[in-house]
Amino acid sequence: TQMNDTFPKDFLWGGAVAAHQIEGAYDADGKGLSTADVLTAGNRESPRQITQGVLPGQYYPNHEAIDFYHRYKEDIKLFKELGLKAFRTSINWSRIFPNGDDVEPNEAGLKFYDDLFDELLKNGIEPVITLSHFEIPYALYENYGGFKNRKLIDFFVRYAETVMNRYKDKVTYWMTFNEINNQLDTFDELHTWTNSAVLFEEGDNKEEVTVQASLNELIASAKAVKIGKAINPDFQIGCMMAYVPVYPYACHPKDMLASSKMMERRFFYSDVHVRGEIPIYALKRWEREGFDLEYTEEDLLSLKEGTVDYIGFSYYMSTAVTTLDDLDGQPIRDFPEAKVVGNPYLEANDWGWQIDPDGLRYTLNTVYQRYNKPLFIVENGMGAYDTVDSDGKIRDDYRVEYLEAHIKAMHEAIAIDGVDVMGYTPWGVIDIVSFGSGEMEKRYGFIYVDKDNQGNGTLKRRKKESFAWYQKVIEENGLQD
Ligand code: BG6
Repeated sequence: TQMNDTFPKDFLWGGAVAAHQIEGAYDADGKGLSTADVLTAGNRESPRQITQGVLPGQYYPNHEAIDFYHRYKEDIKLFKELGLKAFRTSINWSRIFPNGDDVEPNEAGLKFYDDLFDELLKNGIEPVITLSHFEIPYALYENYGGFKNRKLIDFFVRYAETVMNRYKDKVTYWMTFNEINNQLDTFDELHTWTNSAVLFEEGDNKEEVTVQASLNELIASAKAVKIGKAINPDFQIGCMMAYVPVYPYACHPKDMLASSKMMERRFFYSDVHVRGEIPIYALKRWEREGFDLEYTEEDLLSLKEGTVDYIGFSYYMSTAVTTLDDLDGQPIRDFPEAKVVGNPYLEANDWGWQIDPDGLRYTLNTVYQRYNKPLFIVENGMGAYDTVDSDGKIRDDYRVEYLEAHIKAMHEAIAIDGVDVMGYTPWGVIDIVSFGSGEMEKRYGFIYVDKDNQGNGTLKRRKKESFAWYQKVIEENGLQD
């Protein structure tokens, strides 16, 4: 097949970001604090800190971000020039319900997204909207302890209903919780915080707390799907997963088993979102571990009634696991099932993320065979340090190389394997604050933003060399053979 024959005419070539990583204006027009607003800047070596409220003397990179809140019209002009058909962003929940439990929404917040969506539509760009992309009103942590508290189900549903109603004629594509499956995979405090607004306390069984918070989110998501479909039956409502294939490091059967057990930590969430049931492997595990989880018959019915239309997912890298001691794989992290090790066949970016385009084809196949639902690649990309040359150009051929290889892999999955893919929105279409490290200089964009890790810079936008390359990909509906 000619590559550009493969993609349907309405294939959603786009770009993706998230509200807290671009908007800034963290306290403008009645917005409340969100979980992202209390994250300091980190770097490759030292993690971001989660502070109790906003502390003086700390630098919070998301407070200003790239000031998209005030500059979106200028940025959308560039997106149009790039040819984007879709733009994935999120609604910052704390703009709409500043404390999370407010009875009435904040009109100024609603108005901002009205204007933003109008501007996109006016420029022929379809908004693709995540309801909670690591943004949860901070007050829901302070007053309720975050999603481990089931009261948050209703607060989320009220928020979802409010925005789905308001934007019913402007937004068709929705997703509920961004990378909801990060949390069970790592027990990394940053992930539990950003996914669920939960901080572990002394004596907590981390897995039990995480499972409870996750269940509450899955129930909230299902309820939002049901309500959304009633508001507008044409809505396409998806879930959002982080898929990172976990390969067996050796062909030892124990490594193969460990790899599929590790994948259950990632698949658990989409199993519930897509099938509307708690998978048996999870029930068995909770029983074995003696978890005391709170959910009702009615909740189970909600899960059944609110299954998703498609699976949105991010794909950046793969990992490998081994149960063996006598292999020289570099240990990265220990799990009960196995230890995660470096893959000797793959190269990594500067942050250690192993680059694996075949892993994308593998993922598309595995997920499609598991669920038989349309898939939407809503994040893919390579974080890199870019430099502005003396002639003002940003020669990011490494970015083009990464994306080209992944687009080829996606093409193979569609053309050869028959996987149903709705669209492709590479991550950080314009440079933004990194989620993981809080750095500005971990860049993904086709559009450079003049700002550094300390927050200095003019915020001026500039096209990178990759801009023209992606523009051509979209124009030709795929890569030229
Ligand atoms: C995903 C998130 O984890 O990966 C994004 O959905 C994030 O919010 C992206 O920015 C890339 O991660 P990072 O740490 O490089 O920003």
